[in-house]
Amino acid sequence: MRHLTTLLDLTSDEVRDVLKLSARLKARSRKGKRPSLCENKVLTQVFEKPSLRTRVSFEAAMSQLGGKSIFLTSKEAGFDGRETKEDIARVLGGYSDVITLRTFSQELIETFRKHAGCPIINALSDDYHPCQALADIMTVEEVSGSVSGKTIVYVGDGNNVARSLAVICGHMGCNFRIAAPRGYELSAEFLAQLADRFPDLEVEQFHSAPKAVAGADVIYTDVWASMGQESEKDHRSKVFADYQVTTKLLDVAGPNVLFMHCLPARRGQEVDDAVMDDPRSIVFVQAENRMHLAKGLIVWLLEHVNDKPSLSKPRR
Ligand code: CP
Ligand code: NVA
Repeated sequence: MRHLTTLLDLTSDEVRDVLKLSARLKARSRKGKRPSLCENKVLTQVFEKPSLRTRVSFEAAMSQLGGKSIFLTSKEAGFDGRETKEDIARVLGGYSDVITLRTFSQELIETFRKHAGCPIINALSDDYHPCQALADIMTVEEVSGSVSGKTIVYVGDGNNVARSLAVICGHMGCNFRIAAPRGYELSAEFLAQLADRFPDLEVEQFHSAPKAVAGADVIYTDVWASMGQESEKDHRSKVFADYQVTTKLLDVAGPNVLFMHCLPARRGQEVDDAVMDDPRSIVFVQAENRMHLAKGLIVWLLEHVNDKPSLSKPRR
């Protein structure tokens, strides 16, 4: 049984398989074809944090594939202590063919992986956002062909989105740069893990956004304060003030650079209005591709289920 708790769960070939399958399903869907590849299958989603794209894209994906989805807030699931997380995982696993989780801790996703007995998808944790990175690469390849050898520059906080983007660059043979203020870069521990898994991956950290984006194929940004960091918003607005993506910054990279943002965007903070609506911006293709990617990912994971364990025995 396979899971997507982080992109480190997959080999590079498997990442490519998921991307190809998602692109194929998108092309078929464009021709009005929606094969019922998940008929009678159930997706359960449990979210501790808000979501527009992730929740709806997975629900729409499941619906287009002929399956059903169920959504629970973490309170409804009983994460507030009504019963143990392990027991919740085992109960939900008994009803579900696949589970998506949006959490604060990565550990909770690992708990589900261990106890649910069905494929688990990380729908965003404080540490990673793997579905986003998959849809991001799908989008770049759709718009401008193979990403191999391209330079992706992330401007902003070294957060969950940045980490998953860096990992997928390792899988796809891209160069990854990040421009972040001191104290908000990718951690040394994460960089060591990346270097260990992807010895050929080039990761460069900058403290100047204009220097980082010179020669970029893609400029990517995300919010300065992620979900759970609301109390730091004002402080971060000051710290990140020099890291706003503006038209001037895009122009440093040139007319062919692509602008990406996982959304939601705080227009006027990490990105200005003009950039969101610039012809180089592909943020809404990127958002739509979350659904096509969700379809490919669900189908791929379900194809790899052949060992669903019995729920009658305690799992250790
Ligand atoms: N990009 C993304 O994950 O958006 P949501 O938080 O709306 O799901
Ligand atoms: N880094 C952001 C991503 C939102 C999709 C957050 O975690 O809130």
